Amino acid sequence: MTSLQGQTALVTGGAGGIGSAICRRLSVDGALVVVADLDGEKADRVARGIVSDGGRAVGIGLDITDRDQWRAAIAETTRIAGGLNILVNNAGGARIKPFEALSAEDWKHDIDVNLNGAFLGIKEAFDVMRQTASESASGGAIINIASVSALKGSPGMPAYSAGKGGLRLFTKAIAVDFARRGYRIRVNSVYPGLIDTPLTKPLFESQLKPGSEESLEAARSRILQQYPIGRIGRPDEIASVVRFLAGDDSSYMVGAELVVDGGLTAA
Ligand SMILES: NC(=O)c1ccc[n+]([C@@H]2O[C@H](COP(=O)([O-])OP(=O)(O)OC[C@H]3O[C@@H](n4cnc5c(N)ncnc54)[C@H](O)[C@@H]3O)[C@@H](O)[C@H]2O)c1
Repeated sequence: MTSLQGQTALVTGGAGGIGSAICRRLSVDGALVVVADLDGEKADRVARGIVSDGGRAVGIGLDITDRDQWRAAIAETTRIAGGLNILVNNAGGARIKPFEALSAEDWKHDIDVNLNGAFLGIKEAFDVMRQTASESASGGAIINIASVSALKGSPGMPAYSAGKGGLRLFTKAIAVDFARRGYRIRVNSVYPGLIDTPLTKPLFESQLKPGSEESLEAARSRILQQYPIGRIGRPDEIASVVRFLAGDDSSYMVGAELVVDGGLTAA
């Protein structure tokens, strides 16, 4: 693949399972990576790990639901790197509850983290990314991490499904707009199935049948039976797809949705 040398990437949720794998992969292929996460200390640790492996990275604290924090994060990125080529809106999460237990606050939380955060990020990064894209041979890339929950309703996760489903069409709408207006910023999205990160534990717990003796491991195996490939995915299997969308190898891809789910939604 063509190198990302000389490019700068900002990855939200960069301290998490998938986010840290994305940060490492973009760094290995040459990018300077801004690891941004709600947990600033963890983001620092991920960045220090990348630096000790010979890459270039900085960690910053960022709550993606806060517009002022986005402003500060983009200003800091511009100060450090002079511009921004790649934005990965990866931070997200779900409050898994049956509908009856879902509060209006839970709903707002999931829509904020999975949809509004990406909107705020793109809004605040837009001017800098456009400027950087106009000065670089490859233009810019925005990659939004959605979920298979954007393609089929996920029981126990109505707000998450709504947020990710909204992110799917938000991605396509701006992808088309940006391409038609000649901004040279490609926008695409990725749809992971079940990936082995801390995010999955509450999902397995929610699948335990009330009153049954089923173990967490048994619930996990039961869920994984739905996956034709027969196993859970690894964070690096999402990172490699993000890396593809970030660089010139995907130069004709605009508003595409790449499903990375071991065959779940194909079955
Ligand atoms: N793991 C899976 O099975 C799976 C499946 C489909 C989609 N996804 C999506 O992939 C993305 C990454 O998930 P993961 O599995 O790595 O989860 P994770 O819990 O390991 O990481 C999520 C990271 O996001 C950060 N974060 C949460 N709220 C934030 C906020 N408001 N601002 C900034 N950072 C915030 C957390 O601190 C954490 O580091 C999410 O968008 C998730 O919805 C994951």
